[in-house]
Amino acid sequence: MLWFQKKKTTMADRGEKVDDRLQHIAFIMDGNGRWARRRGMPREFGHSHGAATFKKIGRYCEKIGIRFMTVYAFSTENWKRPQKEVDTIMEIFDEYIEDCFREMEDDNVRVRFVGNLAVFSESLRAKMAKIERETAHKPFMLNIAVNYGGREEIANACNELIREGKQEITEEDISAHLYTVGSPMPDLIVRTGGEIRSSNFLLWQSAYSEYYFTDILWPDFSAHDVDQAVSVFYKRKRRYGGV
Ligand code: IPE
Ligand code: IPE
Ligand code: MG
Repeated sequence: MLWFQKKKTTMADRGEKVDDRLQHIAFIMDGNGRWARRRGMPREFGHSHGAATFKKIGRYCEKIGIRFMTVYAFSTENWKRPQKEVDTIMEIFDEYIEDCFREMEDDNVRVRFVGNLAVFSESLRAKMAKIERETAHKPFMLNIAVNYGGREEIANACNELIREGKQEITEEDISAHLYTVGSPMPDLIVRTGGEIRSSNFLLWQSAYSEYYFTDILWPDFSAHDVDQAVSVFYKRKRRYGGV
């Protein structure tokens, strides 16, 4: 390579890792539809590319030493979309599940599906449960939020507590009944696609998360963009209400 073509390296290229301040990163993977429309393609095309980006970013986050990653794949509100789009997203999800089966022996990923899974077919739920069981010993925790809504999650936690006979509910009780139980609260939540809102993602868990918003559309999101978010995160002062 010529000197003036110096390749932009990533944290992973340089062998750098995050420290304990950044254990859990979450992504609101937004902008697939617009990415496709800008190419004169149907929105579904964006979802396929978005799925590929998700795999690439997952591998990258693991490489730089992040231990927990949560991705927003499908919200409780996304059922409002045209049936054809919903069907395609579900097909992509199915393919992903099959990929998990093929790859789970060789990789370090512990997969967890977070959300109200009751809407999925029994056979799909059985597959999800099997993946969760068989990857339970792996070190890199990946929470995939499907049919996930932060409000639904909190209401569900309360209902479970009622069924357990609780008369009074503490914050700890709710935390212990969230779908994401076992993962620490996210340190950093990244939203691509230019919108500055949470869209019902990790409402309880995000109380003290740092947010990073970027206009980059999810299918274009790269390892360099992860590095950029990480470096902004490290400049933040987390005070948790203190001084
Ligand atoms: C995010 O991309 C993926 C899902 C919500 C499933 P969008 O499909 O919301 O893309 P935009 O925001 O319309 O561009
Ligand atoms: C949030 O994106 C949900 C996911 C990324 C899965 P949306 O595209 O659904 O959010 P809104 O409608 O712009 O708030
Ligand atoms: Mg969107």
